Amino acid sequence: MRQNSLTRPETTVVVAMSADGKIAEAARNQVLFGSPADKAHLEAQVAAADGVIFGAGTLRAGGSAMRVTNPELLKQREEQGKPSQPVQIVCSCSGNIDPNLKFFQQPIPRWLLTTTAGESRWREQPGFEQILALETPQQEIDLPAALQHLATLGLERLAVLGGGTLIASLVAADLIDQFWITVCPLILGGSTAPTPADGDGFLTEQAPRLELLEVKPVGQEVFLHYRRQRDG
Ligand SMILES: NC(=O)c1ccc[n+]([C@@H]2O[C@H](COP(=O)([O-])OP(=O)(O)OC[C@H]3O[C@@H](n4cnc5c(N)ncnc54)[C@H](OP(=O)(O)O)[C@@H]3O)[C@@H](O)[C@H]2O)c1
Repeated sequence: MRQNSLTRPETTVVVAMSADGKIAEAARNQVLFGSPADKAHLEAQVAAADGVIFGAGTLRAGGSAMRVTNPELLKQREEQGKPSQPVQIVCSCSGNIDPNLKFFQQPIPRWLLTTTAGESRWREQPGFEQILALETPQQEIDLPAALQHLATLGLERLAVLGGGTLIASLVAADLIDQFWITVCPLILGGSTAPTPADGDGFLTEQAPRLELLEVKPVGQEVFLHYRRQRDG
């Protein structure tokens, strides 16, 4: 991380989905359906980032953060003069996060991106090194301002690890630059099961367009790499 003049960090979504486009079961618990190759891919993306951001729903479902443990990736980070772990940023309007989660025992830097209401829940208790409260007049998190602020704190690359609610908000605010989507060989089904981007959805004419950068079949999975296509 270093101080820079970027207006916001470059953002890459990294998710695994079933062949029918679901990232979890309808019950929204954590299901680990990716192969070891997908796990290694996710860890490499995390290792390439200065910060990792995820919604509180993802943290509640999984209880912990994906941290870098691969010695080769740790060495690369060291050689690049980066701290051993990227900052793990939880996005929660409410701040309603169980302090007993394994996440709070992991050897990682933890930041909370929240509202003033969420900040007040954590002001008096340990857990987060930094609490960033950036709120819209509707008392939601001001995501554009939050990402700008992260850039001023030296974060140049941000890995966005889900879930579908947070990704949809970031896509709607045009704050996502790239996607890595792993298509896994199973059908999860469920009309209410989360997908890579939930929220209210887009009309087709206004749907954000993507450019395919890479397609990598590995075993039974396919790794799709897209860039957000912007005019001009
Ligand atoms: N397969 C995969 O790669 C993958 C990856 C990630 C997650 N998942 C799965 O996805 C599910 C969780 O996804 P989810 O959609 O329920 O939750 P989510 O997107 O992880 O989190 C949603 C929460 O984020 C917080 N948030 C704060 N500001 C927000 C904003 N502007 N827009 C949206 N959210 C904001 C809110 O927390 P508060 O309620 O605290 O205010 C909101 O309830 C889990 O089952 C998880 O296992 C799968």
